[in-house]
Amino acid sequence: MKATPIDYEVVSRKIRESGLASVGKASIREIKKLVDGIEAETGKRFIRMEMGVPGLPPLQVGVEAEIEALRQGVAAIYPDIHGIPQLKQEISRFVKLFLDIGVEPTGCIPTVGSMQGSFAVFITINRMVEGRDRTLFIDPGFPVHKQQCRVLGQPFESFDVYEYRGQKLRDKLESYLKTGRISSILYSNPNNPSWICFTEEELQIIGELATRYDVVVLEDLAYITMDFRKDYSVPGQPPFQPTVAKYTDNYILMISSSKVFSYAGQRIGMMVISDALFNRQAPDLKRFYVSDRLGYAMIFGTVYSLSSGTCHSAQYALTAMLKAVNDGKVIINEAVTEYGRKAKIMKHLFTNNGFRIVYDTDGAEPIADGFYFTFSYPGFSGEELLNELVYYGISAISLAITGSERLEGIRACVSLVYREQFPDLEARLKKFHEDHPV
Ligand SMILES: Cc1ncc(COP(=O)(O)O)c(C=O)c1O
Repeated sequence: MKATPIDYEVVSRKIRESGLASVGKASIREIKKLVDGIEAETGKRFIRMEMGVPGLPPLQVGVEAEIEALRQGVAAIYPDIHGIPQLKQEISRFVKLFLDIGVEPTGCIPTVGSMQGSFAVFITINRMVEGRDRTLFIDPGFPVHKQQCRVLGQPFESFDVYEYRGQKLRDKLESYLKTGRISSILYSNPNNPSWICFTEEELQIIGELATRYDVVVLEDLAYITMDFRKDYSVPGQPPFQPTVAKYTDNYILMISSSKVFSYAGQRIGMMVISDALFNRQAPDLKRFYVSDRLGYAMIFGTVYSLSSGTCHSAQYALTAMLKAVNDGKVIINEAVTEYGRKAKIMKHLFTNNGFRIVYDTDGAEPIADGFYFTFSYPGFSGEELLNELVYYGISAISLAITGSERLEGIRACVSLVYREQFPDLEARLKKFHEDHPV
């Protein structure tokens, strides 16, 4: 029997009872259930880094506006499928003020979370040109996107960008685009799970190739303005949130309110379609839609079929939150900078105890401190490391499920780790290091 921070016998028994072949191969929800059980029996709190959920209160101005809208009776009324006018206007202002790009309100569409946005995009974009039926994922990535393609029966391609940063990205991307089968390229920036951010050079490569091969870039900005190395928070002033929209007209942005506004529960996000793409005619769309115009097909074909628009009251909330940040009354990322501050401390605790950061640089710069980071320990695969860390009261997920080829890697999310747990985290990492000398 080993002396581990969490009772060895209890952890081993709970793992057996869970029926999981390996903790390191379990899904996020399976790990959550297992850890809930161990915590309940031992009374010991884990350092919980498996779930990527906000750990902060929602932006209050959104809550107030939503309550007021409900009081006014919007719950009884179907919202317009393309979104209420004042929200479309604020989204258009928002992308101008924070990304420095011009998009007409018509192409700014609320969706039921960014997840519905991507689902709608896959359905529509992969049908624009017959034969060009698949998305290329620049991994590591958010596994649910690929799940969406699978349930749609759509093929997809992917590669881990780890070895293809900077100019190397060009040839790698071209090798896929040359096949003529790729309709779109999806990545998140900052990236879930690795928190890498593409450099301007890389965004330029992606944008140029998207134009040359006529593919649509699906830029997932779920963590918009959360690369805290630069201050992207002042509306209308540089530096602006980097975006591929500077380098191509072939883009759709998916912007979530879940993380930056901590508004995940109300399931509202934004899809921003470039003016050029919105008005694009794609005759093959007629196979599925009454119109061959991309914007029209997206709204009145796809979004209509999925949910007939987005929750009415949540649209008022998002309008109010965007207006507040656009007007400079609320600093967009003020609350969430806490994630960056915590990540900085936590990364030190890991690296001081023999752990390494896996995805560690953007170009010549160390990656930002933010919502996630990735780590490994010499001599362990990610799966083995997760299996072992459970006994030390630390839970996270393996990078293997994110399309990463760094099989030694683990993703840690900082949001649900509280500062008062840092001494525990430090003691547990220290013990792990002593028990597994490098
Ligand atoms: C990269 C990425 N995209 C999209 C989402 C989903 O966003 P939403 O809650 O707006 O559907 C998440 C949430 O974790 C994410 O990490």
